[in-house]
Amino acid sequence: MEVFRRKSAIRAQLATWRAAGTPVVLVPTMGFLHEGHLSLMRLARARAGEGGQVVASIFVNPTQFGPNEDFDSYPRDEARDLALLEAEGVDAVFAPDAGEVYDPCGQTVVETTELGKILIGKLRPGHFRGVATIVTKLFNIIRPDAAVFGEKDYQQLAVIRTMVRDLDMGVEIIGAPIRREADGLAMSSRNVRLAPADRAAATVLSRALDEAEAMAPTGVTASRLRSHVRARLEAESRARVQSVDIRDAATLEPVSGPLTRPAVILLAVSFGQVFLIDNRVVHPAQEVP
Ligand code: PAF
Repeated sequence: MEVFRRKSAIRAQLATWRAAGTPVVLVPTMGFLHEGHLSLMRLARARAGEGGQVVASIFVNPTQFGPNEDFDSYPRDEARDLALLEAEGVDAVFAPDAGEVYDPCGQTVVETTELGKILIGKLRPGHFRGVATIVTKLFNIIRPDAAVFGEKDYQQLAVIRTMVRDLDMGVEIIGAPIRREADGLAMSSRNVRLAPADRAAATVLSRALDEAEAMAPTGVTASRLRSHVRARLEAESRARVQSVDIRDAATLEPVSGPLTRPAVILLAVSFGQVFLIDNRVVHPAQEVP
């Protein structure tokens, strides 16, 4: 497994692979890898095939963090990440520094004008502009046939799919199911920063989602479901609930009344300084066409 720090070097390698007709699948990450990331690498391998090339990127992207967010304290351990990727059979890693990625005179950004400004985009203004811009840059550098992203970042996945469609990027986007710890907490690089009492309390997210999933087929209304989940979360005194939303699972449009189609429940909750998200797609007993 080769580690590339320079755009020019990885581009040269990719040109060789492309000339040989080899499929390339990219898994963009911000490092501090966990089992969830490794499941993305396995999906990438399945898509690339044995003769294909799986490329992972490790880059904590400064432009997707707000001024008072956790860019500086975001966990990092590159040596451990590289060992995990090597053991997983990843072919190449792109791990540039910020100066290699961003020109100080750069003035172009990529933005999904509506989808990027709702939900998490409201809580973290500019976040999805940073995500869409770095993902576009990674796609332009690597030019993959396909790329894999986790469904835990549900809105991020929707933003990326929309951007790829709107800008005719021609990259297949593959969503990977959320991986959970044994007690239900969704895997996240940020979990390591939870104080022990917060780590225990944070299981309230998946418990609230389990309850919502069980309620969804009973004919419950979207607003009842939302208030039930919010009340569950607020009953946990360590949780600072940032948002609870229920949206159409396909479009992220608001939903009201009894569920007639799959809906996604999106949670954003802080514990101390640690911001966690989770989600679950829930289904009515019968879908109304
Ligand atoms: O999901 C992440 O880890 C990041 O948002 C991504 C897609 C690697 C862009 O920096």
